[in-house]
Amino acid sequence: MATPPPGQRPFSAPDCGPPPHRLNRTLLKSDRTGRAVMQNLVTVFGGSGFVGTQAVRYLAKAGWRVRVAIRNPNLAYKMRLLGDVGQIDVVQANIRNQPSIERALDGATVSLNLAGLLRETGRQGFQAIHVMGARNVAEAARTMGVARVVQMSALGADPASPSKYLRTKAEGEAAVRAVYANATIVRPSIVFGNGDGFFNRFAAMAQLSPALPLIGGGHTRFQPVFVGDVGQALARVVTDEATAGQTYELGGPGAFSFKELMEKMLAETGQHRLLIPVPWPVASALGSLCDLVAGVIPPPVTTDQVEALRSDNVVSGQYPGLSDLGITPTSLEAVLPTYLYSYRKGGQYADQDAREMEAGRA
Ligand SMILES: NC(=O)c1ccc[n+]([C@@H]2O[C@H](COP(=O)([O-])OP(=O)(O)OC[C@H]3O[C@@H](n4cnc5c(N)ncnc54)[C@H](OP(=O)(O)O)[C@@H]3O)[C@@H](O)[C@H]2O)c1
Repeated sequence: MATPPPGQRPFSAPDCGPPPHRLNRTLLKSDRTGRAVMQNLVTVFGGSGFVGTQAVRYLAKAGWRVRVAIRNPNLAYKMRLLGDVGQIDVVQANIRNQPSIERALDGATVSLNLAGLLRETGRQGFQAIHVMGARNVAEAARTMGVARVVQMSALGADPASPSKYLRTKAEGEAAVRAVYANATIVRPSIVFGNGDGFFNRFAAMAQLSPALPLIGGGHTRFQPVFVGDVGQALARVVTDEATAGQTYELGGPGAFSFKELMEKMLAETGQHRLLIPVPWPVASALGSLCDLVAGVIPPPVTTDQVEALRSDNVVSGQYPGLSDLGITPTSLEAVLPTYLYSYRKGGQYADQDAREMEAGRA
């Protein structure tokens, strides 16, 4: 791993940040008047989201001063608790608005853009956020003299993809690299962990429905990656200048079909549901119906998500990944039980209650 930015500690073990007194010494430097000043600022657009929260946590552990740039800072005040006093700030910025981006990047060494969407609502469209928004951030970074740019993309990003989500992710990568040829791109597979949008969505659906659809038969393969590993990877990419210009593909230790993922989720939540294969044309028709309400409520599936499901979502092997960043991927089996228990009948203590009842009967 290359030398970190001046004044920065290199990354060490994942879950043990530096003790507070050492962290303060790293962050604080005296100016000419002897007053302590903070340095090495990273601005994280979309830093309050599912992935962003973990990235900010690891960046703070690594000793960065972090500015979280989002549209609604009043809803994300708890982000400040992820670091030392004064280490993390939350500011208002919209990546569709250039002056707000420039304000958020004032004084930053690195820009990390995580803002992204899974479905379009109003002005928050794929083109507006994944392409124009990504370009806006890169251009503002250049204007503000930011040294490095890191852009979050997605595994499967492809300008020729039938999915608009994946197409615009690829166009966003190109737009950023047109401004910063040395930008680092990070492409994760589906990300799992407490608060994820994948397992939680299907577990909630299973609570309401006797059956779950297997789009296209459920054969599409995924390589789910733990949100903590993604957060750690982002912190390392930001910290290690040798990652500049690279594209990283992040996948977990195992690849599973959609059907296998549904079976794991059902086993973990103790639910017995029919898994019904839905042929592609029927799935597309279902997606079109769901599109009608997609701007109002989160639908079970959209046409664009059906299109994305047509291709496997596993790392290609052509790009570096978690192991190149010194991270051992965490398995699904280690993490799913830590949050899917809430969908079990009886919750966290369901098994324990059953065991105690058994013991009482014996
Ligand atoms: N989760 C996954 O499985 C997965 C897989 C592959 C790739 N990714 C990518 O990883 C990134 C983060 O995903 P996530 O799951 O953490 O998403 P998320 O939980 O929905 O978080 C999105 C973040 O972006 C901010 N945001 C949205 N629109 C914005 C705008 N116009 N200007 C500034 N900030 C904006 C949100 O805050 P406000 O609403 O307050 O602005 C929020 O902090 C995205 O780019 C996503 O495409 C995610």
